Amino acid sequence: MTDPLHAAALTARENAHAPYSKFRVGAALEDTSGRVHTGCNVENATYGLTLCAERVAVFKAISEGAREFRRIAIAADTDALTPPCGACRQILWEFCGDIEIMMVNLHGKSEVLRLKELFPRAFDASFL
Ligand code: THU
Repeated sequence: MTDPLHAAALTARENAHAPYSKFRVGAALEDTSGRVHTGCNVENATYGLTLCAERVAVFKAISEGAREFRRIAIAADTDALTPPCGACRQILWEFCGDIEIMMVNLHGKSEVLRLKELFPRAFDASFL
């Protein structure tokens, strides 16, 4: 059976606003109370103002008062599973720490790893 978080990321992807890249991404972030915060990529004609699905999910969650997270699922239509971009890794580290990352595609392929594997030796508030 599909993990509900996997399914939530696929459903979130359906709302992607990606008229420029046509690359649609969904994310589903589970907090420690079990609540799921979803996001999709939202592009902009200036390109640079585009927000990735992962950051939309994180900022939605933070703005709703969630502060501790267990895992995030990221869904895209790629054979090689899509990992979070560098900017999203920094934001995920800041708000979620060494979270579990589940990458999924539309054909049921999935892989789980931890953020630390993707983002070792991060800069964060501990340096300030
Ligand atoms: N994108 C995401 O939303 N998440 C990722 O993990 C990779 C990239 C978006 C940003 C942009 O809208 C499109 O995918 C192409 O880069």
